[in-house]
Amino acid sequence: MYIFSISGSPRKGSNTDLLLDEVLKGAADAGAEVEKIYISDLKFAPCVGCMKCRADRVCRLAPDDVNMVVEKLDRADGIVLGAPVYSGHVPGQFKALCDRLVGQVMKFDFTEGKANITSALPLKTEMVWLSGSAPQVCLV
Ligand SMILES: Cc1cc2nc3c(=O)[nH]c(=O)nc-3n(C[C@H](O)[C@H](O)[C@H](O)COP(=O)(O)O)c2cc1C
Repeated sequence: MYIFSISGSPRKGSNTDLLLDEVLKGAADAGAEVEKIYISDLKFAPCVGCMKCRADRVCRLAPDDVNMVVEKLDRADGIVLGAPVYSGHVPGQFKALCDRLVGQVMKFDFTEGKANITSALPLKTEMVWLSGSAPQVCLV
């Protein structure tokens, strides 16, 4: 089992890191392969809102570190995302990554006059969000 994690704090050794490491330690102790990457290590362009990826999961921007993130998300059996609260949201860097991932992780079906949104990731079981500040949210 492969557990992939992203620290959305721009600080290494942060509160978010502490929380993520606790979760990943539990997963590793249970036998999982774990990996954590840092938002501050990623180089990528911001989403330009062309919406084309929503049809086919292919981003039209030049390849960058988001491609690597998508490969790991696709491979992961479990995903752990952590981010502090900045002005009521996640830090801008992490939000920019989330925007780039929308068409990669969500499948949009607008047939029958309503939006049906499901996961575009293969074989996903759980996604966990952690935050080192209020609110703390866990999505399954
Ligand atoms: C620019 C900025 C904005 C913040 N805004 C909030 C906020 O709206 N609500 C909150 O509870 N904490 C806020 N904080 C505090 C951080 O969420 C808190 O210090 C967090 O533990 C930092 O996480 P980290 O150590 O993983 O970087 C803010 C911190 C910064 C730097």
